Amino acid sequence: MIPHNKPTLPCGSDWLEVTARLEPGWAADGPAVERFESRASNVIGQPPGVAVCSGSMALQLSLIALGIGPGTQVLVPSYCCAAVLNAVRLAGAEPVLFDCAPRGFNPCPKDAARRKTSKTGAVIIAHLFGVPAAIQPFRDTAPLIVEDCAQSFGARGASQPIGSEGDAAITSFYATKVITTGHGGLACARNPQTAARLRDLTHYDNREDWEPRFACRMPELSAALGMEQLDRLPQYLHRRRMISAYYDDALSPCGWKGNNGDDGMWFRYTLRFPDATAAIQAFAELEVGARRPVFRPLHRYFGTDADDFPGAEAAHREIVSLPIYPTLTDAQVETVAAAALKVIRRGAGCRT
Ligand SMILES: Cc1ncc(COP(=O)(O)O)c(C=O)c1O
Repeated sequence: MIPHNKPTLPCGSDWLEVTARLEPGWAADGPAVERFESRASNVIGQPPGVAVCSGSMALQLSLIALGIGPGTQVLVPSYCCAAVLNAVRLAGAEPVLFDCAPRGFNPCPKDAARRKTSKTGAVIIAHLFGVPAAIQPFRDTAPLIVEDCAQSFGARGASQPIGSEGDAAITSFYATKVITTGHGGLACARNPQTAARLRDLTHYDNREDWEPRFACRMPELSAALGMEQLDRLPQYLHRRRMISAYYDDALSPCGWKGNNGDDGMWFRYTLRFPDATAAIQAFAELEVGARRPVFRPLHRYFGTDADDFPGAEAAHREIVSLPIYPTLTDAQVETVAAAALKVIRRGAGCRT
């Protein structure tokens, strides 16, 4: 079975390159983390932020640093992973779910606007699968914007890096993300006071004042791996683009194409089938690990009326993600493409 996803890690002696980035005597809060924070923040077009243990923690910290907490509502995309919901709840705020674009998957500004109330303090905009969501249309939906770049690290919109427009922006370095530090995350903020508050929240020792703060800083070893990964980022993005182009080319006789369009980067290669469950099963029979890219729309956890989230329901019913990662071999790429062609031809026609 070709796995749906796999971390891209250094091999053999390449690990020496990683450890060579460690300064003697430093295990935590040292120069490797500081350098990584600066370089990784630059990729998402933000001033240097704080490197932490996960994307979830980065999101939670961003909300708290922006002053979001009890008594505030945060608009959260329903077609997204549960981490966004967790972060809002753990920050003490109330999540208000909104839908994705009809026939799309990224958050829909019109639906967010419809759910805005006098208590809305922020909106989280997740750029899913590597595809940039336009930020400007969200300006009137909430006073503050948090960009979630967990699935779009290294993507660029028309003229700027994805992540550069939000009041805060976060990303994840989980094992199977665009780059990995084992597990990790980064939280950045545009406003210097918010950026300082992010840092303040993660330094709990030797303080003159006391308030509950977080022990979540990224260790030096992870940051050293992160820098090795940053060096390889252009190569990783190129390989993902090549694989997506191969898939598009292979599927063109059927008139099918991956859903990412021309912008952004290829974190996921997704196709819409009439029935994702049946398609995933068909891929499994052909030894290809296909998946739903979002486990479950979040409104389902609350038993909310599915009719209120037609976009997320359709995305969940139809979207299937195929293997796309730098270590996929050419032979595996060919196998996946051939399997996709078979599944499409066997299925109900050619919907893109
Ligand atoms: C869109 C999105 N936001 C946030 C996260 C949370 O990141 P982490 O797993 O590093 O906590 C993820 C991870 O899957 C994600 O896909």
